[in-house]
Amino acid sequence: MDLSKIFENNEKWIQAKTADDPAYFENLNKGQKPNVLYIGCSDSRVTAEDLMGMQPGELFVHRNVANIVNAIDLNAQSVINYAVKYLEVNHVVVCGHYSCGGVKAAMESKDMGILNPWLRNIRDVYRAHKDELNAITDEQKRYDRLVELNVKEQAINVLKMAAVQRAVRKRGMQVHGWVFDIKTGKLIDLKIDFQKALADIMEIYRLED
Ligand code: CO
Repeated sequence: MDLSKIFENNEKWIQAKTADDPAYFENLNKGQKPNVLYIGCSDSRVTAEDLMGMQPGELFVHRNVANIVNAIDLNAQSVINYAVKYLEVNHVVVCGHYSCGGVKAAMESKDMGILNPWLRNIRDVYRAHKDELNAITDEQKRYDRLVELNVKEQAINVLKMAAVQRAVRKRGMQVHGWVFDIKTGKLIDLKIDFQKALADIMEIYRLED
């Protein structure tokens, strides 16, 4: 792929945006007030804004391999804290996807070098749900289920954060778990009962005085 194509595309995009609204970029420059924080996978096929029909300014985005929310990942923790405390988003979405290479790698007996500690997060999800997963004999279905359980566990990891607990209690912020199905293009809401999930973990993870 010739990268000059990207700059041509950019020029066309600017023209399309300003044709509808000449002040488009002037207004964009004034600031952001996104409603949703999206935490998704880095996978090139899962294009956050595109698949949701979201426009610039509407979505605050964090992406990494297999949409992991790890307590000592300063990057993810900073993004979530900034979005929740300062941008005051009303929704935090953890969005996984079927056919996730990161999840697949965590299901294999293989030394992935520097990726090992990252993928360990997914192996930990597998261990926590080993009985349910091992009862699924179809490997593809077990893989899909691990993708879903990983979303759920990462959403719970979001709920373990002080700023999130405060935002849920004080202003009714919501946390969601979704999965994108690459085979069909469909976005699926796993309908996680985050209030119940939060109540379940508060005994151990409450950070407010
Ligand atoms: Co992925």
